[in-house]
Amino acid sequence: MNLPDLCIARDRIKKEIKYQNVNTKFSPLFKDKKYFLRTYGCQMNVHDSEEIKFYLEALGFVPTDTLEQADIVVLNTCAIRENAKDKVYGYLGRCKHLKKLNPNLIICICGCLVQQPHEVETLKEKHQYIDIIIGTHNLNELPELIMKKMPKQTIEVYSNSDIVFENVKYKRDSKVCAWINITYGCDKFCTYCIVPFTRGRERSRKMENIIQEVQELKNNGYQEVTLLGQNVNAYGNDLNLGYDFATLLEKVAQTGIPRIRFVTSHPWNFTDKMIDVIAKYDNIMPYIHLPIQSGSDAILKKMNRRYTIAEYKELFHKIKAKVKNVAVTTDIIVGFPGETDADFKATLDIVKYCEFDNAFTFIYSPRVGTAAALMPDETPKEVKEEKIKELNNLVNSYSLKSNQALLGKTVPVLVTEISEKDNTKVCGYTDTMKLVNIEGGKDLIGKIIDVEITAAKSFSLDGIPKIKVNN
Ligand code: SAH
Ligand code: SF4
Ligand code: F3S
Repeated sequence: MNLPDLCIARDRIKKEIKYQNVNTKFSPLFKDKKYFLRTYGCQMNVHDSEEIKFYLEALGFVPTDTLEQADIVVLNTCAIRENAKDKVYGYLGRCKHLKKLNPNLIICICGCLVQQPHEVETLKEKHQYIDIIIGTHNLNELPELIMKKMPKQTIEVYSNSDIVFENVKYKRDSKVCAWINITYGCDKFCTYCIVPFTRGRERSRKMENIIQEVQELKNNGYQEVTLLGQNVNAYGNDLNLGYDFATLLEKVAQTGIPRIRFVTSHPWNFTDKMIDVIAKYDNIMPYIHLPIQSGSDAILKKMNRRYTIAEYKELFHKIKAKVKNVAVTTDIIVGFPGETDADFKATLDIVKYCEFDNAFTFIYSPRVGTAAALMPDETPKEVKEEKIKELNNLVNSYSLKSNQALLGKTVPVLVTEISEKDNTKVCGYTDTMKLVNIEGGKDLIGKIIDVEITAAKSFSLDGIPKIKVNN
């Protein structure tokens, strides 16, 4: 049994990183048994779930969307805000009931929630029916744990890791777009954030391994890769091999894969060299997610974000000036401890100033073990709710405005799937990451086509394929 520990998770003493290949061969002991998997949280978790799916299917499991039919339930959890946790506990209630009806059911919980010691304590004390609790640093052990058929609850959660796994296999959700991890963990310690504790210290994959993965995806017909890291701009800093994110991005661009994206960029590490590379290559999409968090310098300081609004604006202008047709989106937290009305007004002002293409807004949620959780927070919940409503109205007005600017224009769209809302249509994203529902059939999936925009809403566009007519 290995239990999480926040002191170890906080440790940033640099040890040498080991690169280790994972085992990917398992016998299908569970042939045709069913798995039910739910994923919460960010793209990193979504990509981890693709690894989990690979393991489950290598063991013989097949997917089901009906919880009641499952032989194994896996919940890949998130810890970023309290509401992410509430959703998991909702499922656990149903799992407990099912386990009573079927004692052979295997219940597994993994992801960021179980990297938190107090959460694991609760699971240990009150949720003994959960069979496997496994952390974010050792997902590779999941198949062995499932095969062991433990007589009692097994907890394997490490708090930090100096290992970067290679040769990881995924059952990818899409045949068109793929996620690629470039860094794991985060060393920034923004005072509100649990991620540095749940994902450990920042460590980069070696460039040659990433490029090889891009090449393989390209050879298999993938049209788009998204490079993943909590802070992609810090890529390479821990390696001391003389290369950084700009170098990596350029090498990925030179593979010729049609579309490249990356998330998330931290304003603090964003260099001019990176902007120049983004501007130089047509296959690097003109879309940058650049979380600002607050419009107030005082709050940014308390958040330990390491930039001022003046610096953010300077970076924003450089990006807009150099990267043609670029879309910039952001994240904003409302109601951070000590946020005054004037601080909040400054947030509204920066949104008006930048006119973000889109913004993800969150009410601050205290996380056990983070520095901000100890700061006095006197703003009542109702006031925070009023503020976020006002902010969302503003943010949405700019989303609509940026979408309306595309009306009547023709834009390139990578078609990815059948439209969720209308199965007679397909959908995909523009180079600037705007969702478009397109009139057309599934033969368009996997293609980058020119689309004329015929309608613009706050969160999506409608369009028709622009067919070239040869006279
Ligand atoms: N690594 C990324 C973001 C990770 S979390 C970055 O640094 O930008 C995604 C977003 O969740 C953050 O940008 C922040 O806006 C929000 N968030 C993180 N912790 C939060 C908390 N405790 N309460 C509310 N929102 C939070
Ligand atoms: Fe969290 Fe800050 Fe790291 Fe992003 S950069 S993951 S917000 S600590
Ligand atoms: Fe959540 Fe962990 Fe991602 S806390 S946002 S799943 S890194």
